[in-house]
Amino acid sequence: MTNCQSLYKFAKNILMLKIRNKIFSNKKVYIESYGCQMNFSDSEIVSSILLKEGFDHTKTVEKADLILINTCSIREKAEESIRKRLSFFNSLKKKNNNLKIGVLGCMAERLKEKLLHEEKVVDLVVGPDSYRNLPDLINKTNKGYKSIDTKLSKVETYDDIVPHHFDSNNITGLISIMRGCDNMCSFCVVPFTRGRERSRNPNSIVKEAKDLFKKGFREVTLLGQNVDSFRWSHLSNNKKELEKLQNNSESISFANLLEMVALITPDLRIRFSTSHPKDITDDVLYVIKKYENICNYIHLPAQSGNNRILKLMNRTYTREWYLNKINSIRKIVGDDCGISSDFISGFCSETNKEHKDTLSLMDEIKYDYSYTFSYSERKGTMAERKFNDDIPINIKQKRLSELIIKQREHSFYRNKLFLNKTYRVLIEGLSKKSENNFKGRNSENKTIVFPKRKYNIGEYVDVKVLKCNSATLFGEILN
Ligand code: SAH
Ligand code: SF4
Ligand code: F3S
Repeated sequence: MTNCQSLYKFAKNILMLKIRNKIFSNKKVYIESYGCQMNFSDSEIVSSILLKEGFDHTKTVEKADLILINTCSIREKAEESIRKRLSFFNSLKKKNNNLKIGVLGCMAERLKEKLLHEEKVVDLVVGPDSYRNLPDLINKTNKGYKSIDTKLSKVETYDDIVPHHFDSNNITGLISIMRGCDNMCSFCVVPFTRGRERSRNPNSIVKEAKDLFKKGFREVTLLGQNVDSFRWSHLSNNKKELEKLQNNSESISFANLLEMVALITPDLRIRFSTSHPKDITDDVLYVIKKYENICNYIHLPAQSGNNRILKLMNRTYTREWYLNKINSIRKIVGDDCGISSDFISGFCSETNKEHKDTLSLMDEIKYDYSYTFSYSERKGTMAERKFNDDIPINIKQKRLSELIIKQREHSFYRNKLFLNKTYRVLIEGLSKKSENNFKGRNSENKTIVFPKRKYNIGEYVDVKVLKCNSATLFGEILN
């Protein structure tokens, strides 16, 4: 591009921004988010883009000129609850003719134009890689058109956008370090709704973490569908070429990134999610061990304890491989390290005996926590195309409740191991049940409730654990 052309483009952008700032000034946007932490983090990017264009935020949906709902498609139920919300928004639209409704995120990406036909209340459909175009798309709806952009990108990382933390406690923040997923687990819709995996420039990640610390945040969670396959190099953003650069000083791995963020200051805690059992390396575990401020907590979804089911799920590891990883965690990071998992009950053709293998895996590991789901068939996934969703709903539910009961026992067992020990806790807010108590978490991700004394939210305190149930630890600040 010649100097003259780029000057013209720059001037045009400034002019457009000024025009839109006028159009959008005094307009109020209300944003509601569903699904995983990535979606909540994306909503902060969306908010930042819109504030720059002149929008104000409102937390009262009735006051909004624009309602954006950032959606999840992971299970049928997630989509059903969003459709219910849309029918509530429809009742608001009847009272306010100028109100516009936009659907963002995974449901927008999955359903595309269909969403405009099925839900007449919707004016705007925008997929997760198109948020930069929101101002133009909103402008179009203000002229009376419906608008849609669901193009997925191989490069979009929103690197340069400083998220606006409109919904946060200003102590714990989310930072997306990568987008998309290339794993193709057979049950999962994410690779279709989020596109190809791409990692963000580590320098912009470190800058964002430093900015958060300056604003008073004391913990960041580094987010990605598969954080362990983070890899970045200034030489290439092509995944195949990046793989060739492995172990080369010219590419940055997830372990390197963790270290870069840990070195910002010991007073900024680091968490990360989600790890994939096939990708988490000992290097990552050694970095966790080395830095006090990298939390001793790993979410390592197993999904099933049976090898045939794991194969059908295309998880690419076996029960034995998974157990080896858990052993490495316990050996390198320590027995105290918090470990949690996700499990799916009633996946295609799962027998009762295979379900029992999941229960026995849980018995063997004794997780601190598990997120449990009954299998929900998603259109377009490998499982939907190749297998029968043949486990009756009542059996899925029965197996699910067995997983839940088992996990409750193990959570209680694990929590009891923390009794009479003292932990550094970051005070995150008031306890839900009493204004006289604070709640916070220790490095191992256990929630601890304790009397307030003279301390403030955002401070670290040493808390001795005195009591517990299966969900919470209760303690006392030590002086
Ligand atoms: N990237 C993360 C998970 C994202 S989805 C990972 O790989 O672990 C979060 C969880 O939802 C999954 O771990 C899985 O347990 C569950 N899940 C995904 N698709 C599902 C489906 N079709 N039915 C039921 N649960 C599902
Ligand atoms: Fe889905 Fe598997 Fe990717 Fe997780 S790793 S987002 S479960 S495809
Ligand atoms: Fe849901 Fe999309 Fe996250 S499907 S779990 S919001 S990536």
